[in-house]
Amino acid sequence: GRLSTKELLINAEKGGYAIGAFNVYNLEGVMAVVAAAEEQRSPAILQIHPSAFKQGGAPLVASCIFAAEQASVPITVHFDHGNSKQELLEILELGFDSIMADGSHLSFKENIAYTKYLADLAHSKNLMIEAELGRLSGTEDDLTVEDYLARLTDVNQANEFIDSTGIDFLAVCIGNVHGTYPASGPNLRLDLLKDIYALTSKRGVHLVLHGASGLHKDIIEECVKRGVRKFNVNTEVRKAYMGSLTKTEKDVVNVMTSAKEAMKVVVAEKMHLFGSAGKA
Ligand code: G3H
Ligand code: 13P
Ligand code: ZN
Ligand code: NA
Repeated sequence: GRLSTKELLINAEKGGYAIGAFNVYNLEGVMAVVAAAEEQRSPAILQIHPSAFKQGGAPLVASCIFAAEQASVPITVHFDHGNSKQELLEILELGFDSIMADGSHLSFKENIAYTKYLADLAHSKNLMIEAELGRLSGTEDDLTVEDYLARLTDVNQANEFIDSTGIDFLAVCIGNVHGTYPASGPNLRLDLLKDIYALTSKRGVHLVLHGASGLHKDIIEECVKRGVRKFNVNTEVRKAYMGSLTKTEKDVVNVMTSAKEAMKVVVAEKMHLFGSAGKA
């Protein structure tokens, strides 16, 4: 069934756990997430990245919505990393529960303008909105310490950003990265997270952590304790999918079935890590 993404995160806040938002690219992905959610009795968020939307378009969105409506546990449908105003205007008409307006590549002032414009529009259509402050790096980037620090979410800016935009969810940059973490392990500024949460929890704004693939149990648990309510997971599910493919299998249905099973295992694992298993 469908709740709003905000209701999911409010329940997670009350229960002291987090919800997984899993990037899906096709029907196997959608079904893997929903099957995992039903088996683990967990709420979940299906999320579509612009690159997936370019391939699957409105039919991909419709299959997410239909699967969410049919599911015996709460599932919502979210648009991830929306960095084009034009694309988001189209997205707002397709039945999503929530969107991310990603203005993290812009200057602080431009990010505010971009995010506020989309937050007002989204709210007028009853959609919830996530935005990002700071800048997430990819693992490939060879950052200096100065660059690394410059990209972290600034607590005072977060305050102004929330006031000026009216967002519902804030994606933070505390050293989290998309893709895999370096062999030395992730270097997350959990102290910063605590300060940001002190601010956002007073305003009913929920914290999102992108780049959850590659974060181990202890770090995930610390993040949840310090207020993260939505974890974005893409890389590990995609790897499971790719790893399930073989050159020798001739039957397309078998290929799809193993892909779905492989993704489902990873998604179920994350639901336990995030503490959402058994909460639906
Ligand atoms: O449409 C006007 C917005 O407030 C500003 O958006 O920074 O993406 O141009 P922009
Ligand atoms: P990962 O690449 O760590 O899975 O992060 C996914 C993400 O943040 C999608 O928005
Ligand atoms: Zn992300
Ligand atoms: Na990651």
